[in-house]
Amino acid sequence: MSQAPSSGNVQSNLHETRFFPPSAEFSKQAHIKSIAEYEALHARSIAQPEAFWAEKAADCFWFKKWDKVLEWNSPDAKWFVGGKTNLCHNAVDRQVEEGHGDLVALLWEGEPMPDGRPEVRRLTYKDLQRETSKCANMLKSLGVKKGDVVTIYMPMVPELAIALLSCARIGAVHSVIFGGFSAQAIKDRVEDGQSKIVITADGGWRRGKVVALKDAVDEALKAGSEAANLVTSVVVVNRCNTNPPMVAGRDQAWDALMAKASDVCPCEQLDSEDLAFVLYTSGSTGKPKGIMHAVGGYMVHTAMTAKLSFDLKPGDVYWCTADIGWITGHSYMIYGVLPNKVTSIMYEGAPDAPAQDRFWDIIERHRVTKFYTAPTAIRTFMKWGRELVDKHDLSSLRVLGTVGEPINPEAWIWYNEVVGHGRCPIVDTWWQTETGGHMLTPLPGATTTTPGSCTRPMLGIDMAVVDETGREVPVNEGGILVCRKPWPSMLRGVFGNRERFIETYWSKVPGMYTAGDGARKDENGNFWIMGRIDDIIIVAGHNIGTMEVESGLVSHPAVAEAAVVGYPHDVKGNALAAFCILRRAIPTGAEGEALKKEILGHVRKELGPTSVPDKIFFTEALPKTRSGKIMRRLLKDVVVGKAVGQDVSTLDDRGILDKLAVAVQG
Ligand code: PRX
Repeated sequence: MSQAPSSGNVQSNLHETRFFPPSAEFSKQAHIKSIAEYEALHARSIAQPEAFWAEKAADCFWFKKWDKVLEWNSPDAKWFVGGKTNLCHNAVDRQVEEGHGDLVALLWEGEPMPDGRPEVRRLTYKDLQRETSKCANMLKSLGVKKGDVVTIYMPMVPELAIALLSCARIGAVHSVIFGGFSAQAIKDRVEDGQSKIVITADGGWRRGKVVALKDAVDEALKAGSEAANLVTSVVVVNRCNTNPPMVAGRDQAWDALMAKASDVCPCEQLDSEDLAFVLYTSGSTGKPKGIMHAVGGYMVHTAMTAKLSFDLKPGDVYWCTADIGWITGHSYMIYGVLPNKVTSIMYEGAPDAPAQDRFWDIIERHRVTKFYTAPTAIRTFMKWGRELVDKHDLSSLRVLGTVGEPINPEAWIWYNEVVGHGRCPIVDTWWQTETGGHMLTPLPGATTTTPGSCTRPMLGIDMAVVDETGREVPVNEGGILVCRKPWPSMLRGVFGNRERFIETYWSKVPGMYTAGDGARKDENGNFWIMGRIDDIIIVAGHNIGTMEVESGLVSHPAVAEAAVVGYPHDVKGNALAAFCILRRAIPTGAEGEALKKEILGHVRKELGPTSVPDKIFFTEALPKTRSGKIMRRLLKDVVVGKAVGQDVSTLDDRGILDKLAVAVQG
C-alpha cells in the first residue's frame, strides 16, 4: 500500500516562514561562526574528503597514525587504515594525561532517595580511568578477550557507562540491550552475538518502584536454550538491594569482583577497523539487525559532531536524556562527548518522578549548558504546561538539541520560547543507529534554523534527495534520502548477515547509502524529513508524508500530539486516518464533532485538500515503542479493525490497544 515515493508528484505544502538566525553574541564565541564559514568548510570537505577527515582524525588520540585515510569498495569502507587507537583512551585517559583528571566526567543523578533527597554521584575523568581499568581487569579475569561480545543489560547507573568503556579498553565488543526489553530480546541477542558474558543489575528504580532486570536474564538463560549453553558468567550490579537468586558457578556480584581487580590496565592498541560494538535496531518489523561500528571511524565522527553540533567547550555541563541502550546514548552521552572534556549528565529515572518538573529541576541544580532530548518528550512537556518550566531558572542553557523523529513546528516553537527563552539555538539532528553520528543538523553558531527542518549536512557528509536512479529531485519535491559518499562512522555491516546489509542499505539507489527515510530539500537548501519511506502514503495519486500532516494537526491549538496512517480506500487508493491527543479533556457528542471539523478545516487551510484525513479520532494515548517512536503499524490495524493478536513486544504500554479501540468506536 505504501511504496518509495516516485519523483515528480509529491505533495508538500507545509510552508514554514519563520526563521531564526543565531545571535551575534552566540556566533562570536562558536566553533563555526557563520553560514559562509560552514559553506566553505562543507564544500571543501566534499571536494577533498580525505584531507578533511585526516584533519579531524588528528584531533583524536592515536597510538599509531593511519597509513591511509580511506579504502572504499562500495559498500565496504575502511577508515584510517593501519591506525591504532582506543575509544576509551580517547574518551577518558587522554583527558587525565592532559591535566583534566579532576574534572567531573559523569554526573549521575538517580531517582530521589526515599527521604526525597536527590541521589548524585560524580565521577571525575581520573575516577573513570580507575573504574574502567578495574572493570577491564574483571572482564579479563572472566576470560573475556579482544573481539568477544559482552552483553550489557542494565539500568541507567554509572556502572553501565563503566561497563561500556571497559569493553572498549580491552577491545571487547559490547552489545547493549535497553533495560526495558524482555527476556526474549536478551536471548535473541546473546545467541546472535554468541556472547559468553552478561553484565546486568538486580534492577533499576523508576517512579519509586524497582524494575527487575536479573529475572529477565535468568529467564533468557533458562536451561536448554542455546543462550544458556553459551553464557558462562553473569555479573550482577546491586542497585536496589533485592538480592535476586544467584546461579552457582555462573553469577557473581559486581562489587566482589571489582574489589579484587587491579586498577592498572592500559588501553589495548586496537586497529582502527576493529569492531567496537554491535547495537540492535529496534525495527518495527522483522528480526532486529545487529548494526556494527568500527573503532577509529566511529571515534572521529562522534567526537567531531558532538563538538560542532552542540558547540561543546571544555567544562560544559551537557545533558542527553536518552538511555544508553540506544545509539544516542552511546554516541552523545559517552563516546563523542567525553573527548570534548565536558561533564556528561546521566539520569536514571522518569521525567515525571517525583514531579513533572524533574528535568527543569535537574537543569537548574546542575547548571546544564547543553540539553539534548526527543520531540516526544517535548510534546509531553507541552501537555504538562509551561508553569512547570517557568518555576525554574534555566538561564544556564546555551544550546537545545532534538533527535529521533521530526519535531513538529509547534513543539519546536515551544521548546525555543519556553525552555530556551528565545536565546538558545535549536539543533534538530537527523541521524540513525546505522550512521553512528549526526548527518543533518544546524550548527548552532552558523545556521539560521526554521522549525521542523534539520537544515543542512554535517561537514564531510554528502546528503541528497534523489529518485531511484540516483538523480537529485527538484527543489521541494519529495524523494529518497541518501548519503552519496562514505563517512567514518558508517555501519560496517549487519552482524552475521551480509545480505541484509546489502539489501537494506545499498540496493535501492545504485552506489548510495539509503537511509529508508523520505525527504525534500527546499529553496534554501534545508532538508525536511518526511518520515520513513514506509510511512509515505499515496492518496489519490499524491505522495503524502504522514509527518507533515501530523505537523499540520499539531499546529491547531487544541491538539497536543497526532499520528497519521493510511488505510485502503475504494476511490482514492488510500486515505488518511488521524489520531489526536488533545490538550484538554476529550469532548463528546456535538461538541466533539464540531472540534473534529474545525481541526480538519485547519489542516485543509495549512496543507491543502489532499492532505486532509478522512477519519479523525481523539485518543488519550498513542502506541509507542520504548524509544518513543509511534507504532503506526498498530494504528493502521486499529483503523481497519484487524484483530490485534500480533507481536507488541516493543510496545511501551500494552493497555493502549483497548483505549484505541474505544477511540475508533466512540
Ligand atoms: O526516521 C528517522 C528518525 O529516526 C530514524 C533512526 O532511528 P534510530 O536508528 O532509532 O536512531 C534514532 C536516534 C538517532 C531515522 O531514520 N529520525 C531520527 N532523527 C530525526 C529523525 N527524523 C526526523 N528528524 C530527526 N531529527
